[in-house]
Amino acid sequence: MPPLWPAAGSPPARKEPPVAVVESSRTGDLPPSRTDDWWRDAVIYQVYPRSFADGDGDGTGDLAGVRANLPYLAQLGVDAVWFTPWYLSPLVDGGYDVADYRTIDPAFGTLDEAEKLISEAAEFGIRTIVDIVPNHLSDQHAWFQAALAAGPGSPERERFHFRPGRGENGELPPNNWPSQFSGDTWTRVPDGEWYLHLFAPEQPDLNWSHPEVRREHEDVLRFWFERGVAGVRIDSAALLTKHPELPDFTEGVDPHPYIDQDEIHDIYRSWRAIADEYDGIFVGEVWLPDSERFARYLRPDELHTAFNFNFLACPWDADRLRRTIDDTLAEHAPVKAPATWVLCNHDVTRTVTRYGREDTAFDFDTKAFGTPTDLELGTRRARAAALLTLALPGSVYLYQGEELGLPEADIPLSRIEDPMHFRSGGTDPGRDGCRVPLPWVSGEPHSGFGSDTEPWLPQPAYWPQYAVDVQSEDPASMLALYRTALRLRRETPGFGDGPMAWLPADNGVLAFSRTDALVCVVNLSGTPATLPSHAELLLASGPLTEDGRLPSDTAAWLRR
Ligand code: GLC
Repeated sequence: MPPLWPAAGSPPARKEPPVAVVESSRTGDLPPSRTDDWWRDAVIYQVYPRSFADGDGDGTGDLAGVRANLPYLAQLGVDAVWFTPWYLSPLVDGGYDVADYRTIDPAFGTLDEAEKLISEAAEFGIRTIVDIVPNHLSDQHAWFQAALAAGPGSPERERFHFRPGRGENGELPPNNWPSQFSGDTWTRVPDGEWYLHLFAPEQPDLNWSHPEVRREHEDVLRFWFERGVAGVRIDSAALLTKHPELPDFTEGVDPHPYIDQDEIHDIYRSWRAIADEYDGIFVGEVWLPDSERFARYLRPDELHTAFNFNFLACPWDADRLRRTIDDTLAEHAPVKAPATWVLCNHDVTRTVTRYGREDTAFDFDTKAFGTPTDLELGTRRARAAALLTLALPGSVYLYQGEELGLPEADIPLSRIEDPMHFRSGGTDPGRDGCRVPLPWVSGEPHSGFGSDTEPWLPQPAYWPQYAVDVQSEDPASMLALYRTALRLRRETPGFGDGPMAWLPADNGVLAFSRTDALVCVVNLSGTPATLPSHAELLLASGPLTEDGRLPSDTAAWLRR
């Protein structure tokens, strides 16, 4: 029996408070999105295909599984789906090591199925966003294999960053660049040269000053836009261009030799021209603390949107959240881009777990095995955070399983696959805990993910209580909350893109209006808060107190 890493206490029964919902009088079929600029206020659902639904029963999620569950996504009420990479890949980094952009990995299906999926989703009113990983390829990609075979000085090697080593015999890496995962950024090949990889050795970095690299990616964008996708998520979007001399990195000295080089914007301007031909949009994975530098990516001739990681990383604290919301809106305003609100994705600790810990911020550096977690508290906060994010101006990203309130899973050491874990020397638990296959049907093997075959990552034994069928029957479930919130957000004028104004509130309480008639209140203080006067309680994330006040860690939407 392999060792299990210390569990964070035994999993509690899922006890969610009955939700205080006053159903809106306006029901019926969902109206279409309010604006043509759908992306300015869309709710975008992130599908991690390997773990969403298993159509062929082999333990790995696939496109057949997604197609079969499009009605589920339509019922949830999302506007678009972003698929993490589904291309041919050795899956060393969960598909972020792409071996061929024009082929779907056989584990997931075929290109024909992807095309069907895109058009079937469109019939449900759901747009498709694909994920492009321009910083690097898989070492199995034809270009890298050709570069290895062709040897030093060859044109094939110029598409990557190959260099001789330092030291008397070239035995030292060409520079000291820190990795985006832990570990080395250079690997030596048998002929003595080294190649750069900001992530794992199986993910060689491309040389973005090479015209073929640019041309190829422009072709790949067209390939997917031609197939009807509405948008592209850009992986590691601030890392592509490197200082041409690849100088050593010195802590605290600007500019950084590989993060956010000025030349990168030229690439995105040419990409934007392509997207405009197809009415497509971009969302960039841009982790930059400097808001002015961040906003440059969102200028009107560059990317449409970028993930709001400052909000994702922010602790559950009223002052900090308010400041982050203000900073977000202030940094987006000059470039007139809509903000995005993100609580979770396939790289970070799941929301209910993070909010149930003493440190409710997210930071890759502080992830540790065995962190004590109060899931009941975390779930209450995650419910309130759902209403907060869905009420803020802009678009919202929802990561699969967030609508089920899934916790981060403890993965037995022997089953961990994430290179972040191995490259940390085993100290970082890695990201598999948020990538576990979804539970669909409580009474079936593996909660209805596939059939009898063990899923590629194990589901915790206590997960059947989170299954879609159980939550669909329970008006107090997280799924019911999301379904109602998404419907109300779509039906009620004032949500999505547009103005917001803070309202006076007690310490620890966030209150803001979206229109004169529409107000959101979130209580992060330790005591119940009095709600502002209102005509109707549209939705609350938990029951109010007997005297109508808003308890701690609870949010409400009000009509005045
Ligand atoms: C992004 C992805 C992450 C991946 C990395 C390398 O950060 O979100 O999952 O490991 O890029 O491609």
